[in-house]
Amino acid sequence: MDSVLKVDLKENSYNIIFEKSFDSLARRLAEIGAPKKLLVVTDTNVGRLYGGEITELLTAAGYDAAAPVFEAGEKSKGMDTILGICGACLEHKMDRKSMIIALGGGVVGDMAGFAAAIFMRGIRFVQIPTTLLSQSDSSVGGKTGIDFGGSKNILGAFHQPKLVYINVVTLRTLPEREFISGMGEVIKHGIIRDGNFFDYLENNADKIKSLDDDTLMYMARVNCAIKAAVVSEDEQETGLRAILNFGHTVGHAVESAADFALTHGACVGIGMCAAARIAQRRDMLSAEAEKRIKRVLELYGFDTSVRDIAEEQIYEHMGRDKKSSGGRLKFVLPAGIGEVRIFDDVTRAEIEDAVRSVICGGRNK
Ligand SMILES: NC(=O)c1ccc[n+]([C@@H]2O[C@H](COP(=O)([O-])OP(=O)(O)OC[C@H]3O[C@@H](n4cnc5c(N)ncnc54)[C@H](O)[C@@H]3O)[C@@H](O)[C@H]2O)c1
Repeated sequence: MDSVLKVDLKENSYNIIFEKSFDSLARRLAEIGAPKKLLVVTDTNVGRLYGGEITELLTAAGYDAAAPVFEAGEKSKGMDTILGICGACLEHKMDRKSMIIALGGGVVGDMAGFAAAIFMRGIRFVQIPTTLLSQSDSSVGGKTGIDFGGSKNILGAFHQPKLVYINVVTLRTLPEREFISGMGEVIKHGIIRDGNFFDYLENNADKIKSLDDDTLMYMARVNCAIKAAVVSEDEQETGLRAILNFGHTVGHAVESAADFALTHGACVGIGMCAAARIAQRRDMLSAEAEKRIKRVLELYGFDTSVRDIAEEQIYEHMGRDKKSSGGRLKFVLPAGIGEVRIFDDVTRAEIEDAVRSVICGGRNK
């Protein structure tokens, strides 16, 4: 299978490279005409693991790379860090032709991308995603941003990278909880667009979980092709791209109700089960398909129900999302495995039934 995938966005098109090492990184940067001055943005964990290797190989290839590091975690995803990155750009005497490289998970990618979008009104950037979530979702699509005023990703910009370089071997150092979180997005992509890919995930869980390189490369390639196809059809999220929100209506509410103690992917997993329940009750989805969705999530270590969250808290957070999205809650519901449709007519009774089905000890389990 080809190790390069083109994301077709006319003048904003770029390649995603799938590799088992960083060996071809310098060559790939040369191919896109990377300038000598680079800023490699990373966090404390990724910097410790891969920062040295990347700066050494860039220096050996003749690049002048500075590498600012910020504290790992969502708490850093704010304006202070953005100003820190922009300050590092000035200190490194970067100009409009310089380039930022995001080395890390979704937090690094979203922030380095946002800094690249605003520094000197926009400079080029490259993503080197190192978590499964960033390799399967956040590095592809050009959404960048930060949290502000208690709201996630509320400030940001669409700014497409010039290259995404995925080295699947970095997943070997990723904590299991983060791997499971990323699998939530991968499984989601199968359900929304590709039943064969879902079958593949169902039949190859052992190889995927044991981090077999070739299996991870194949999974990353198919997964990114699904996301890239959706993004190519709707770069700025005016229509189709909304299907990527499958599992997010209830998932977001659970994430907020749990005060972000659960990973994003874990909450999307719960949200996908809730959406599947609604679809099954509407006779859009067979009972067997609903069970398969749950079974595959469980195969990858997901809890398909939540504990210690009151039902009411979930409705309260859904109510807030409803207000901020113009008064109607949108649900992406599966119409089989590999196809979804968007609805804004899901009733309170349907939502309650679905939420109870994913609450531990819920009446409708
Ligand atoms: N832009 C988008 O389209 C988009 C989509 C989904 C999520 N996001 C954003 O992505 C963020 C979540 O991303 P994430 O789940 O990658 O979290 P993250 O970036 O916080 O990474 C999770 C943890 O893993 C560590 N880590 C990263 N790579 C590692 C490796 N190879 N080995 C060991 N540890 C490693 C990090 O330091 C961090 O502690 C959220 O802020 C979310 O809003 C953005």
